[in-house]
Amino acid sequence: MDTFEALYTTRAMRRVKPDPIPEDVVKQMLDAAIRAPSPGNTQQWRLVAVSDRAVVGELAGLYKRSWDELQRTFYSGVREAAEARGDDITRRVMSSADWLAANFDQVPLVVLPFIRNDPDGSGIYPAVWNLMLAARAQGVGTTLTTVLNHFAADDVNEVLGVPADKGWRNAAAITCGYPLGKWGVAERPPVEQVVFADRWGEAPEWSVPEPLWSY
Ligand SMILES: Cc1cc2nc3c(=O)[nH]c(=O)nc-3n(C[C@H](O)[C@H](O)[C@H](O)COP(=O)(O)O)c2cc1C
Repeated sequence: MDTFEALYTTRAMRRVKPDPIPEDVVKQMLDAAIRAPSPGNTQQWRLVAVSDRAVVGELAGLYKRSWDELQRTFYSGVREAAEARGDDITRRVMSSADWLAANFDQVPLVVLPFIRNDPDGSGIYPAVWNLMLAARAQGVGTTLTTVLNHFAADDVNEVLGVPADKGWRNAAAITCGYPLGKWGVAERPPVEQVVFADRWGEAPEWSVPEPLWSY
C-alpha cells in the first residue's frame, strides 16, 4: 500500500467484524510496532495482545464502565451541545464510540501497550502508530482508546496479571478487527487553520484547501 494512503486513511475504525485476525497478520502488526523509535532506544514497552474470548470479555465490562464514566464526567453535555449546533461529525463519533462500548466483547484482538520509566508516557506513541499503520496496510481496522487506562487501570492490571509493582502501567488499548464500514480520508479543518509560520499566530502564505492525498 502507498504510504500516504495508509497515513490518510488510518481512522478510528470502531465497528469491526468478530472474525479472527490471522496469526501472520498479527505478527506483522506487532513486529512493525516494536521497530518504532523510543526515547534513548530504551524500548521500555510490553504489548499484551489479547484474543482470548474470556479475557476480551472481562476487558469489555471494564470498557463499558469506563466509557459510561467518561460521558458522565469529561464528555458531559457533549452530545447535547453537538445536537444543538447541528454538528454531525461529533454525533457520528459518539454513535460509533457507543457501538464499540456495546460490542467490545466481539472485537477479535485488543492490543494493550504498557510502559515504564517514561514520565510523560510519550515513548509509546510511535509504536502505537506503527501498529495501527501496519494493521491498515493489511486491511485491519484499529481504534486507539485510552478510557481504560484513565478509569480502570488497576482492574486492567488485575485481569492481565500485570506486575504494576515493577513500574509497568497501561498506556492504551487498541481494538483491532476487519472493518464493517469503508475506509476514507479523515475530515479535518485545513492545515493553514492550525499551522503558524515562524511565530505563533502568523498565517502561512500558502493554503491546502483539499487533502493532498485522496482516492
Ligand atoms: C489519544 C487518543 C485517545 C482516544 N481514546 C478513545 C477512546 O477511549 N474511545 C474511543 O472510542 N475512541 C478514542 N479515540 C479515537 C478518537 O475519538 C478518534 O481518533 C477521533 O474521533 C478521530 O476519528 P477519525 O480518525 O476516524 O477521524 C482516541 C484517540 C486518541 C488519539
